[in-house]
Amino acid sequence: MTVAPRPSIAERLATAGLPPLPRTAWLELDLDALTSNLAAIRELAGASIPTYPVVKADAYGHGALEISRALEAAGATGFCVAAADEAQALRDGGIAGPIHVLYPVPATFAGEAARQGITLSAGDVDGLEPLLDAAGVASAGPPLQLELEVETGLGRGGFAPAMTAGVAARVTAAPGVRLAGLWTHLQAAEDGDRTADQLARFETTTTSLRDAGIAVPPRHVAASGGVLTDVAPYEGIRPGLAVYGILPDELDVGSLRAEIVARFRPVMSLRAQPVRVADLPAGHGISYGPTFTTQRPSRIATLPLGYGDGYARSLSNRAQALVRGRRVQLVGNIAMDALMADVTDVPGPPVTTADEFTLLGAQEQDRIPVEELAQLRTTNTWEVVTAMSARLPRVYHAASGPVGLRTLTSRGG
Ligand SMILES: Cc1ncc(COP(=O)(O)O)c(C=O)c1O
Repeated sequence: MTVAPRPSIAERLATAGLPPLPRTAWLELDLDALTSNLAAIRELAGASIPTYPVVKADAYGHGALEISRALEAAGATGFCVAAADEAQALRDGGIAGPIHVLYPVPATFAGEAARQGITLSAGDVDGLEPLLDAAGVASAGPPLQLELEVETGLGRGGFAPAMTAGVAARVTAAPGVRLAGLWTHLQAAEDGDRTADQLARFETTTTSLRDAGIAVPPRHVAASGGVLTDVAPYEGIRPGLAVYGILPDELDVGSLRAEIVARFRPVMSLRAQPVRVADLPAGHGISYGPTFTTQRPSRIATLPLGYGDGYARSLSNRAQALVRGRRVQLVGNIAMDALMADVTDVPGPPVTTADEFTLLGAQEQDRIPVEELAQLRTTNTWEVVTAMSARLPRVYHAASGPVGLRTLTSRGG
């Protein structure tokens, strides 16, 4: 059976009524995978558990607004971000549900946060007092919703368990503020003993609030690792990576139930079409340096993306791409806006600028998983996807084809 060739990206976008790409390198984001990952997470945590996907850092490079809209439509309760302007951008973009800012923000944002129903977090006394002052000044409007982070072992932020009840009492008594949550973050969900210690400290903290006569607000602890290892979901979960179909590097996937692992599908693929495919003689240097010189007459494809797009220079001469379902080697130093692949050995008619390359994700029977790029870069999968820069066009896909496009100058779909 002959398979009809996949229409080009230009044809796919035109058919969907979307604008053309500014250049032929783009991220493809699979919204069906996204919503089915969310469904798997909710099933694991319990359908009634409020779910606040983490969409900080432009939804780990996937595009915060587009991803949040899709997740909101699929039943996410609200969202978590790291910075005040990330929260603001979601509200401005029409996200109506709860938005939690998980990291400390300047007190100058407190009034706006209260007005916009954006929940802030406090994790140390120095940050708390200015927030309470600012909320008091703005107290004619809706109260500032404030969550308290508890330091149970991560060593990054949060009030010590022994002082949290006192802080909670102070917040409860302050004008213009509502105690909206209590949370902590796990250091190593894969380490059962460490996690048990952290959860014990969190429980002690909860008890201390109760003993002080303070109503315990909704609590949340589990990120992706916690959800996947069955950490108590309390009154909410904050999954990030797994929403995007990637399982935390450190988790021993072999010990997770196979059917759970099988349900997560990566949302992000990185694709490109060459801007030039050239036959170069033996002895020709490729890119800056050069760090690669052709050893034979070689056919070299130039793809229009580079480290300026978040495709790290450290992948030079190490990573591979897929074309026609076959692996080809990247050669020469990755430049800011270009990288080269040796396509000499691809069988069939010579590779041309009409061929589509995959640098991350699946093509035909093969796949370049994010774990492969992370390993080559000696980093984690979080960094690989989060590094994808804003200037890479993002094409949002449903099963039917493209449904949206985000470029630096346009938001289509
Ligand atoms: C406080 C907090 N909660 C939740 C998450 C989500 O973690 P993950 O991507 O592992 O699910 C993060 C991620 O950095 C975080 O900092």
